[in-house]
This record gives sequence, structure tokens and C-alpha cells, in this order.
Amino acid sequence: MEHPIFIKNASQLITVGGFSETPARKEKMKQLSIIENGAVWIESEKIISVGLTSELERKYSKQLHQAEVIDAAGKIVIPGLIDPHTHLVYAGSREDEFNLRLNGATYMEIMNSGGGIHSTTARTREATEEKLFKESKNRLDLFLLHGVTTVEAKSGYGLNWETEYKQLKVVKKLQRSHPIDVVSTFMGAHAVPREYKDCPELYVDLIINEMLPKVANENLAEFNDVFCERGVFTPDQSRRILEAGNRLGLKPKIHADEIEPCQGAELAAEIGAVSADHLLRASEQGIKEMAEKGVIGVLLPGTAFFLMTEAVNGRKMIDNGLAVALSTDCNPGSSPTVSLPLMMNLACLKMGLTPSEALIASTINAAHAISRGNEIGSIEEGKKADLVILNIPNYIQIQYYYGINHTDTVIKSGKIVVKDGRRC
Ligand code: NIG
Ligand code: FE
Repeated sequence: MEHPIFIKNASQLITVGGFSETPARKEKMKQLSIIENGAVWIESEKIISVGLTSELERKYSKQLHQAEVIDAAGKIVIPGLIDPHTHLVYAGSREDEFNLRLNGATYMEIMNSGGGIHSTTARTREATEEKLFKESKNRLDLFLLHGVTTVEAKSGYGLNWETEYKQLKVVKKLQRSHPIDVVSTFMGAHAVPREYKDCPELYVDLIINEMLPKVANENLAEFNDVFCERGVFTPDQSRRILEAGNRLGLKPKIHADEIEPCQGAELAAEIGAVSADHLLRASEQGIKEMAEKGVIGVLLPGTAFFLMTEAVNGRKMIDNGLAVALSTDCNPGSSPTVSLPLMMNLACLKMGLTPSEALIASTINAAHAISRGNEIGSIEEGKKADLVILNIPNYIQIQYYYGINHTDTVIKSGKIVVKDGRRC
């Protein structure tokens, strides 16, 4: 049997408790629930007890000698970070296009002339499953070193069954072999492949009639995502694809209003998507409808930063009642990063969030964005023991320092997987 783990003396133990059933919104997005001089008792993958160090030392006095004790004096303990939107599984990189954009080309111009998503699709189609696995695993290792313990991963660089399947198999293999929990999303509707350029409806039919049933039959994904955008998939096509997935048990997500207004937020509310992501150009009405229907807004500050566009007004969205989560959007074109802490910095500096809101958006609200509010995202008794110890004395320093990785220890499913900032 594994030894229990006892974390004690944390200068701040940030539980983010109380939001397992429904995500935090409005002023509740500031309620972190902080225990000073806090402690956690962990056993068999689960959080067993949370409280003051003195209380837990008393409660477990007879078992203390068997436990692995971590003294977190001068440090903070937070729930493992959750990234609810990544394009983790791809081959290659696109620094050539980064250079083109810095010389004046736009993201959509590059994509419409055959680059962008199409260029990564070509490389992903060519790559062997082993190569794809290795590149994706390397990224997951980096996520872990940044304190991320759960990651959603989308397919969408195959745009034909063979390669979409290859990506989804890589996700399965990562689920079996990597400490990070990987949540699978099918995104055959990431772009219209070049070979269907003149007949996009046929590609939509292919997704609906062939790909989605195979994904559901083989249990390859839990969510179904669509890039609803002018020149990619129309709201009508997106609705058809998401409804078809829904009928097969694949929960809808949507890349909504990223580059231009496209009624994506309205569509997310209409079909009851779990989340609508990006929302840079979402209408106020759309955000209101999402808030009313309980759709989570996943904001991706790194994408606006990297595409050099104005950041979304996250402040206003929270004030209007939207439950907001944050994500890296990790992908080779619009956000090549794994640093969720940096996204929290950007959310504060560019989107008007406060440090407490940014932390809630990266933990419990992010858990809700992947339908896991009851399992992860907070330090509460009975939840999975996913915790991070940061080498800073208070949580505001997560946002105050930027571009610095403070991750000291990562505990994933009750096991220490990062120690002194290194994999172990
Ligand atoms: O979320 N918008 C579509 N998909 C990604 C970008 C993918 C790429 O450029 O490779 C996004 O921004
Ligand atoms: Fe994305």
C-alpha cells in the first residue's frame, strides 16, 4: 500500500471549495476559501482531510509516522491547474507563419492560402503515430512542470478519418501512460480540408455520417467541437455537427466568435453547449444567453496576445454573470504555449480579471468546462488528490510575477510527480 501524504504548514492553502455542483460566477469568482497554516491529508489517490495544521496533526497523530510529510512553510498549496482547451496532438511547428504575421499577413489570410491549420494538418497526416505520441508527450511533460494536472485535447489536424483516428489513438495512449489526465475531444470540424474546398457540405456530411459514429462506437472522445467562423463552418453547419454528436452522446463545445462575430455564443446557448471558447467577437446578447443557460465561457488570453489582437473583456463577462474559465489553447498557430500561469497573468493584465478570479477560472470553473466539477478543481474531502505547491507565500504573487514558473511540487492522483520543480 502507498504511504499517505501529509502536507503541512502551508502559508496559504487555497481550497476553492464550495463550487463542485455549479461553477463560480459574479462575486463568487473571488471566493477562494483560504486556510492559513493549512494542511492536507492524502490517501489512495484521494483528499481525505483538509484543515489547519494543528488540527490535522492531532487528528492523524497515530498515523503520522507512516506518512510522507511535506513541509510547505512559506509556500502556497492550490488545486492542480486544469486546461480545458488544447490542441495538444499535432506535428511540427509554424514559426515561418509567425514571421509572416510579423511582416503584416493575417492569421486568416495565411489559412485561406493553404497554410495555418492546413499546414499542421499536412504534417500531422505525414507523421507516424509514434512521432505524434512523442511530440504530444513532450508537451504534456511541460504542462505538468507548470502545475497542470488535467488537460483537454482536441483532434482536428487530420481532417480525414485516418489521421483524426491517429490523433485520437495518441490521446488514448497518453491517457494510459501519462500522469496528466487527458480529456478527449473530437474536432473533425476544425477546418474544411483542402480537398473539400469547393464542396464543404460534403465534408460536413462526412463528419456527421461517418466520423462521428466511429468516434462514438469506439468511445474515442467525450466532447465534440466545431470552429464556427466566417470562412470555416457556418452557424448552420456547426449546429448540425454538434447536434449529430449530441445524439451520439458526444457533448458539444464550440470555438465561437474568435476572429469575427459569427453568432457562435448564441448557438452555444441554443444547443446547450458545455462551453463556448474564445468569444473575442461575441455579442453582448450572446454572452447574456450563455450566462442564462449555464454555458461556461472559456477565455484564451494567450491567443489574442499571440495574434496581436485586442483581448476579450473578461471583466464585463463576469459582471454580466458568465462563469469564466481560462485556457492556453496550446496549438502551433495561435498560441504555442503550455503556461497556464502566464494565461492567468494575461487575464489580469489584459482582460480585467482579479488574481482570485483568474485562479478560480483555472481550477474549479475549468473543471466544469470539461464536466468534472465533482471530481477535480478544488481541495475538498473526497476529491482526487491533484494539488500543486508553489514556491511563493501568497496567491497574488502567481499573477504579480509573470513569466516565472513557481511550481515546486505536483501531486497527481495522490502521487508526487514533480519535486523541487523537476519530474520524479
Ligand atoms: O483555437 N481556431 C482554431 N483553432 C486554433 C488554432 C489552430 C491553429 O492555428 O493551428 C485556435 O485558435
Ligand atoms: Fe482552439
